[in-house]
Amino acid sequence: MKTGIIDSDAEKIKVNSWNEWDPLRRVMVGRAKGTMVQAPEPAIIRDWPNEGFPKGSYGLVPDELVDAADEQLDNLVKILEKKGVKVDRPSDFDFAQEVSTPDWNQKSMFGCMPPRDVLAVVGNEILEATMSQRSRWHEYLCYRPLIINYFKNDSKMKWEAAPKPRLSDESFNKNFWEKYEKLSNEEKLIKVRENDLILTDEEPLFDAADISRFGKDLFVQLSLVTNKLGYKWIKNHFKDHRVHAVTFDNYYPQHIDATFVPLKPGMVLHCGERTADPELIRYFEKNDWQIIKAEKPSKTYKTLPRMSFCSPWLSMNLLSIDQNTIVVEESEKMQIEQLDKLGFNVVPVPFWDVAPFGGGLHCATVDIEREGEMEDYFP
Ligand code: NVA
Repeated sequence: MKTGIIDSDAEKIKVNSWNEWDPLRRVMVGRAKGTMVQAPEPAIIRDWPNEGFPKGSYGLVPDELVDAADEQLDNLVKILEKKGVKVDRPSDFDFAQEVSTPDWNQKSMFGCMPPRDVLAVVGNEILEATMSQRSRWHEYLCYRPLIINYFKNDSKMKWEAAPKPRLSDESFNKNFWEKYEKLSNEEKLIKVRENDLILTDEEPLFDAADISRFGKDLFVQLSLVTNKLGYKWIKNHFKDHRVHAVTFDNYYPQHIDATFVPLKPGMVLHCGERTADPELIRYFEKNDWQIIKAEKPSKTYKTLPRMSFCSPWLSMNLLSIDQNTIVVEESEKMQIEQLDKLGFNVVPVPFWDVAPFGGGLHCATVDIEREGEMEDYFP
């Protein structure tokens, strides 16, 4: 099986990444090939009648979308490699397979994107998230060959998998979507603030992309894919960290990395449309952090790419190469200009074709090694 790791590299592997901004040395980049429009399941509804995928149907994402996304992913790999960053790619996997556990049967899986959803790297540890969709239950498998190689070649790496969830019907609020869509915006936000959404608290559930790393502090967004027990599990697991549960005014919260994005020590980018908990803002201000309101995205909900289930705020889904250098989607002119004025060296990269596969530059990558150690930025 092709793992992307060559022998001469092997002894140099060091899993180590404590935040989102220290100098990047090694990164995983996802793949679009093989991605499925997910078969129906309690957690999500896919409905793209104009694309040949009306509600209830499922199948491979059309080739032309896959090819366009893989071209942009491959281009990102080249750019990162030119900057001296080692890049690893996950293995091919047949996501069209029907999968099951003793509790359920799911007609298809999803894909090898975005790896950020599945894997949290916290210091020397790679943690496989529980995930909260049946179609994503087995997704860790496409990353396993890489993880095993890291583990074999890094004497200090910790490798953990959060408790595999059952995802039985008890894990989901019945008829949630039907009822949610009938609520007013205010009513929706009350539910978001209370994390009374699709997931029950039957068992711990979380996606890794709801965790944002600021050294000793980890911020975990309660969302459509992360429940309170998931947060509790993360908090109890990372004993040396301060782990905070946070919510934002976002009607469909899913993954924190297009909402509250650290740029460097003392500076965080915030999606102004998604108001934060006042307590979170106080915590940052008390520690003299600058909270920068992100500039407007280039897209609107109406002009998103075909079959995208992300928001226009992928404009702020960035990948930092170091404290001064940030990779940003090339058409996000206002976001680029803002970062430029803040003194960052921006590397523009075309990436919107990747959105139908679940995210932007941060989602599509997982930093495996950055220089630096754990530091306390909120002393
Ligand atoms: N689900 C988020 C994307 C997270 C990177 C959003 O659409 O804003």
